[in-house]
Amino acid sequence: MHQCIGQPLARAELRVALVELARRFPRLRAATEAGRLPTRDTSVVFGLDALPVTW
Ligand code: HEM
Repeated sequence: MHQCIGQPLARAELRVALVELARRFPRLRAATEAGRLPTRDTSVVFGLDALPVTW
């Protein structure tokens, strides 16, 4: 019934940020196995609680 009106803007910002992050840190990778990453289950916004990285 409700949807975030800022969704396209938020996605466009993320696209720019993630491409730039990968450009600046070409060896960036997750420091933890995918199955062991903490997830956020009790928030309105779901997803990873943290994503430890190494480069
Ligand atoms: C990463 C960025 C953002 C996240 C994670 C986010 C998340 C959300 C969430 C979870 C909702 C509730 C949706 C629901 O009721 O089910 C929402 C609603 C809303 N968001 Fe965002 N939002 C983001 C960016 C933005 C931006 C940039 C704007 C404005 C330019 C915006 C404007 C709104 C508005 C007006 C609503 C209310 C929609 C409604 O009640 O019909 N949001 N957002």
